[in-house]
Amino acid sequence: MIFTQEMLESMKKVEAAREANIALEPRRLTAEEKEKLLAEYHPDYREDAFGKITVGPNKGEKAPKELIEMLQAHSRISGKNIDLNKVDYEADVLVIGGGGAGSSAAIEAHAAGAKVMIVTKLRIGDANTMMAEGGIQAADKPGDSPAQHYLDVMGGGHYCNRPELVEKLVMDGPIAIKWLNELGVEFDKAEDGTMITTHGGGTSRKRMHAAADYSGAEIMRTLRDEVLNRQIPVIDFTAAIEIIKDEDGKAAGAVLMNMETGELKVARAKTVVIATGGAGRMHYQGFPTSNHYGATADGLVLGYRAGAKLLYQDTLQYHPTGVAYPAQIFGALVTEKVRSMGAKLINSEGEAYIHPLETRDVNAAGVIRECTTNGKGVNTGMGKAVWLDTPMIDMIHGKGTLEKRLPAMLRMYLKFGIDMRETPILIYPTLHYQNGGLEINKFGETCVENLFVAGEAVGGIHGRNRLMGNSLLDIIVFGRNAGQQAAARAKTTTTGALTLKHVCEYEQEMKEAGIETEAVSPKLLPDYTRKVERI
Ligand code: FUM
Repeated sequence: MIFTQEMLESMKKVEAAREANIALEPRRLTAEEKEKLLAEYHPDYREDAFGKITVGPNKGEKAPKELIEMLQAHSRISGKNIDLNKVDYEADVLVIGGGGAGSSAAIEAHAAGAKVMIVTKLRIGDANTMMAEGGIQAADKPGDSPAQHYLDVMGGGHYCNRPELVEKLVMDGPIAIKWLNELGVEFDKAEDGTMITTHGGGTSRKRMHAAADYSGAEIMRTLRDEVLNRQIPVIDFTAAIEIIKDEDGKAAGAVLMNMETGELKVARAKTVVIATGGAGRMHYQGFPTSNHYGATADGLVLGYRAGAKLLYQDTLQYHPTGVAYPAQIFGALVTEKVRSMGAKLINSEGEAYIHPLETRDVNAAGVIRECTTNGKGVNTGMGKAVWLDTPMIDMIHGKGTLEKRLPAMLRMYLKFGIDMRETPILIYPTLHYQNGGLEINKFGETCVENLFVAGEAVGGIHGRNRLMGNSLLDIIVFGRNAGQQAAARAKTTTTGALTLKHVCEYEQEMKEAGIETEAVSPKLLPDYTRKVERI
């Protein structure tokens, strides 16, 4: 039997209340209610999960303990003799990371005439971009405007967002969609050729453009084709493990490590773009993740050791609807589009206890409250969970809608014998996104000259909580921007003698701060080996 007796009994209550729940419009929470819910239940507010950074530019600030361990670890080049005069690769622009942001940066740098190369520790496209489902926001429809989009982004981010970055994001949104469309992304379109757009949590207008529920895969497919068509060199299975600077403190390349052999190489470049993505595989607070295998916060470590500042490193996004059951897909993403299309969050008693399109942080906290204090979670054998009542979708929009608009979701569950058109699904928050990252100006540059950042490794665009669909948008807008800016700078900058002095200085600062650790970073890959005690 797929479902336990407890699940079946709770499911009966969900079914019995379904028609009434469809008709019900759960009221929106007030600002005070949201703040209270977040403070009591959101994982970012768990004091014991955080510590203080004791070295580097953000010394004294709060960060997740797991991230601190990586920021305050030994360099992978510690004790190694690296001959910086022996240069293995030379480029104008070195892009670290082969996801959506890195690819967009490389395409634009190439279009600007720069000699560009991508290094990636896995393969081009092994990235969170590939796994994005629900869509990409942009205010390009009548009745909407970048100003309206701006207000939504700021509200979702608790008004902590960097205004100049949000302005860039929303103003360039329509251009980003046009660019992707012209490159060949197959967006969902109506018969008259206009794009189909929907709501996401916290949006005041329907501006979510999608390619069914595999929007990121469709975007990544297109970007990867463009990188390959342009014959931009991609050095795969090769990780950047330290930023190299020149004698004047400017970024000037990276030490690379072959992931199979461990061999080290030197890449010299006039400018460097960090586009290494997110951190889900750090499994902060033991959460499962919707992220790809390589999401281990590497860019934050590389940038930080080179002297770049972090911003909002203490805020993570827990997507409210991660798969809670079955175990084989535990933590995988159930796209917010499911809720955009009308499915409601329902507790074990069949109650639609919250509005399904509250912002993500609020809905994640709400799920945790139902499963803990309120005692209205369903036992999955791996913890508690609430229902997402997916049969509502076809009831609202007509039979066949779920299959047409959410084919990947449907298939993922059918593999395990669960037909989400017929039965609700069990969900619980999953670690989805790092809201914070390296601080940049509107040109995409950090406080380290010639060191640019794009994509999920950036902090500040989304404040303390990102809205759905603004990540696919930011990787395009800020990826392209970083590529253009890095290429332009490469034309004017001069690069002096290469040095890794900053890495030694950082190690010295750790020693003086009394840090004793066995850890090395960047992490590069998660460690899932079972720790078995010897007897
Ligand atoms: O729910 C989702 O489809 C996720 C989208 C996003 O993180 O932007």
